[in-house]
Amino acid sequence: MNDLAEILRREIAAAGVLPFDRFMGLALFHPTLGYYERPDAATIGRQGDYFTSVSVGSLFGQLLAFQFADWLAALPGGPVQLVEAGAHDGRLAADVLGWLQLRRTVLFERLEYWIVEPSARRRGWQAGALEQFTGKIRWFAGWERVPATGVQGIIFANELLDAFPVRRFGWDARAKSWFEWGVALDGDRFVWARIRGAGNGPLQNPSSTLDPPSSSLWTVLPEGFTIETCPAAEAWWGQAARALREGKLLTLDYGLTTEQFFFPERSRGTLRAYRRHHATDDALADPGEQDLTAHINFSALQAVGAAAGLHTAPLASQAQFLTRIAARTWQPRSDFEDWTPLRIRQFQTLTHPEHLGERFRVLIQSRDD
Ligand SMILES: C[S@@+](CC[C@H](N)C(=O)[O-])C[C@H]1O[C@@H](n2cnc3c(N)ncnc32)[C@H](O)[C@@H]1O
Repeated sequence: MNDLAEILRREIAAAGVLPFDRFMGLALFHPTLGYYERPDAATIGRQGDYFTSVSVGSLFGQLLAFQFADWLAALPGGPVQLVEAGAHDGRLAADVLGWLQLRRTVLFERLEYWIVEPSARRRGWQAGALEQFTGKIRWFAGWERVPATGVQGIIFANELLDAFPVRRFGWDARAKSWFEWGVALDGDRFVWARIRGAGNGPLQNPSSTLDPPSSSLWTVLPEGFTIETCPAAEAWWGQAARALREGKLLTLDYGLTTEQFFFPERSRGTLRAYRRHHATDDALADPGEQDLTAHINFSALQAVGAAAGLHTAPLASQAQFLTRIAARTWQPRSDFEDWTPLRIRQFQTLTHPEHLGERFRVLIQSRDD
């Protein structure tokens, strides 16, 4: 057993059954042993466990920068902010800032780049990677540290919210109620175990995202049908939405609408573990040594943003979103860089339905003055 497994084992001994979101939170974000505290090369990219759009190459950040520049230019004068969360090793920030510095010099002068980053270790990686932009960048450990005047600009994240710890629920067809999955021990092995509700009875419906889109589904939902909810992502989105004074809030991520969570082919839920580019269902194996991720619920985020006064654009696939931007860079007078064979290959990977094009979607909400 590794050190993190030992810590989890002790928590389980104290709790009986540990809620899965606690297990996932420690497996990914334990301050020294969590998966995301590992050096970047060990996790993202060809040598790591999974690819992201950022690891495909600089084109992704350059296309975002091209779009962001238009959105920022539409805001009133004075300082504007680009706020990134989940900046990891700073690569996306470097791609976005590098393009804006070269191609949008006037805007670049009034631009501030903020990074919301709770981990001191990752703030260190980012500062190293972004040395050439020192003075442009400010770090905040959380939304509560962001100036009360808020953000006039764009708040964005790529593959952030799918890493937030989820709660995992199963359907008890006989009792017609949800139960929550937690983690227990069988010898040294972590195993799934039901968390009992008060008095050992079923849980009261713990989240509105567990209400099926049509009430007739309650009668046909099969035994064990599994769904995750992510209160942490909803809370984070709400904080971001409230911090946005004027501009856009967007996330690019794998995700579904509430309705899609109930499709029969998702009866085992969306939680997956990634290691060396293979997905497995064994989320409990080797905590801290594999990535854990679950699809985000776009309907839930949308509702949270709307409650904070934001307007929602129609959900787009990453392919649709990036193709719309690229189409503008192909216009005769565009000053986007040349579409070299390398860029074209990157574009194909980012937009291909079997790579990143359809799996990833973009939720954009906005607050206008
Ligand atoms: C899947 S990685 C994606 C990294 C990068 N955005 C990319 O696309 O390559 C998720 C990143 O989000 C970070 N993260 C997790 N929770 C966070 C939070 N509450 N605020 C900011 N970053 C967070 C993780 O540590 C990790 O670096």
